[in-house]
Amino acid sequence: MEKKEQLYEGKAKKVFATDDPELLIVDYKDDATAFNGLKKGTIVGKGVINNQMSNRLMAKLERCGIPTHFVKELSPRETLVKKVSIVPLEVIIRNISAGSFSKRYGVEEGIVFDQPTIEFSYKNDALGDPLLNTRHALALKLATPEEINTIEKYSFRINEILKDFWKTCGVTLVDFKLEFGRLSDGTIVLADEISPDTCRLWDAKTGEKLDKDRFRRDLGGVEEAYAEIMGRLEAHL
Ligand code: TMP
Ligand code: ASP
Repeated sequence: MEKKEQLYEGKAKKVFATDDPELLIVDYKDDATAFNGLKKGTIVGKGVINNQMSNRLMAKLERCGIPTHFVKELSPRETLVKKVSIVPLEVIIRNISAGSFSKRYGVEEGIVFDQPTIEFSYKNDALGDPLLNTRHALALKLATPEEINTIEKYSFRINEILKDFWKTCGVTLVDFKLEFGRLSDGTIVLADEISPDTCRLWDAKTGEKLDKDRFRRDLGGVEEAYAEIMGRLEAHL
């Protein structure tokens, strides 16, 4: 598959055209940002880990019946994916209180919920990705009611699959963010990535953070945490 012109460069990935109009190549960078790009840095080796982790997890989700954009890993940092038009919603599922949930509602981190929560934010950097509810999303015509139903159904199912998988690795899936896209025929598929950049992953025994919060919060040991979580995944695939 030939890599053609660069279509887009985001904070963590570049996207290239291919000779097939329905396929793109994603190239993962080591660049890390937080707080809507305010904090910038590099996490050496992150691009390789996020590419490989996302691909392994998406392949697993496909086997469980969740459609994704994943086609084929081309190199340690590059993956062939189906071209989608991204639904401009960030879907966040939470199993345990942390991050903006704890801040917004004034509760400590680490409270285990009886049921997972779901929230949506409007994917719009200029506005700082504001939180919205499904009726706001419909009013803004970001998705149809059927698409929102499908996205919710897939998101909770993905949570069950990933929570169980990470448990076998001795890791607690605290929360994560998903993005979905539409194929040219309108089918909704999981897109973007699933990685330590987009999930909170805590060691099940010690509670040690094995994700991007180490970068966001200047906790140190960032590269080591990414390597540790990737090692756990590979040992339990
Ligand atoms: P939050 O607690 O800061 O809202 O984050 C919830 C989850 O979403 C956490 O696992 C990190 C992930 N996330 C992203 O993937 N991208 C983002 O821009 C933000 C703010 C969070
Ligand atoms: N990557 C996001 C940003 O730069 C935020 C984050 O993951 O915390 O804004």
